[in-house]
Amino acid sequence: MLNVQNLSKEYPGPGEAITVLENLDLSVEKGESVAIVGPSGCGKTTLLNILGTLDVPTSGSVSINGQDVGAMDAEERSRFRNRSLGFVFQQHFLLPQCTVLENVLMPRLAGGWEESEDATRERAASLLKDLGLSERVDHMPYQLSGGERLRVAVARSLVNQPGLILADEPTGSLDPAMGEQVADLFSELNTHHDVTLVTVTHNAALADRMGTVYALELGNLVRRSG
Ligand SMILES: Nc1ncnc2c1ncn2[C@@H]1O[C@H](COP(=O)(O)OP(=O)(O)OP(=O)(O)O)[C@@H](O)[C@H]1O
Ligand SMILES: [Mg+2]
Repeated sequence: MLNVQNLSKEYPGPGEAITVLENLDLSVEKGESVAIVGPSGCGKTTLLNILGTLDVPTSGSVSINGQDVGAMDAEERSRFRNRSLGFVFQQHFLLPQCTVLENVLMPRLAGGWEESEDATRERAASLLKDLGLSERVDHMPYQLSGGERLRVAVARSLVNQPGLILADEPTGSLDPAMGEQVADLFSELNTHHDVTLVTVTHNAALADRMGTVYALELGNLVRRSG
C-alpha cells in the first residue's frame, strides 16, 4: 500500500540546514494500522506531509498503491490526493466562511467527483452524527470548540472514503471519551472496510489500538510494537 525508501528531508534554516528525516524506510500493507510516536519537533508532521504528497522529500521515494508519487505532476498528485487519501491535519484548516457541513463536503468541490451530491451529503451527515456533531452541521467553525473542529476535520478526511488515512494527532484536543469515539471510528474503518491507517499520536490509548507502533528517533523509525 505504502512504500517509503531511503527518505531524507532537510530544511534550510536561518543558520545551518536541519536534517529532520534521514534515510527512513517504511512499508505499510493494505489494511494495516500504524501509529508514529515521538517528541515534539522530531519530524512526525514532516513525515506525514511527505506521505500525503503535500511536501517533497530532499531525497528518497514514496509510492502509494504501487504509484511513485514523486513521478506525478502537480495535477495528477492533487487528483490522487483528493480521490485516495484522507488527511487529518494537526491544525485542522477548516474554512472559516463555510458551515460544518460545507467543510465536510469540501473535497467534492475539487472536482472529478463521480457520486451524486445527495449521496455525499448523506454520508457527510452520517459521519458528523457518528462523531457527535448532528446538532452542529449548520454552525460556523468559530462557533465550535477545539475538539468539535477537530471532529469536523476527521469527518472531512473520511468523506471521499479513502483507502489510506493519514492523521496528525486526531485525538489531540479531545477528552478521553471523545478520543475513544474517534479511535472507534478509525478502528471500524480499518477492521471492517480494509482502510489503511497511519496516525501520529501522543495518545497512548490510541497508539495501543494500532497494529504497529513506531517511534521516530533521530530521523528514522524504530519499531516499538507489532
Ligand atoms: N517549513 C519548515 N522550515 C524549516 N524548518 C521546519 C519547517 N517545518 C518544520 N521544521 C522543523 O522541522 C522539525 C520537525 O517539525 P515537525 O513539525 O515535523 O515536528 P513534529 O514531530 O510534528 O512536532 P509536534 O509534535 O510538535 O507536532 C522541527 O524542528 C521544525 O522546527
Ligand atoms: Mg506535528
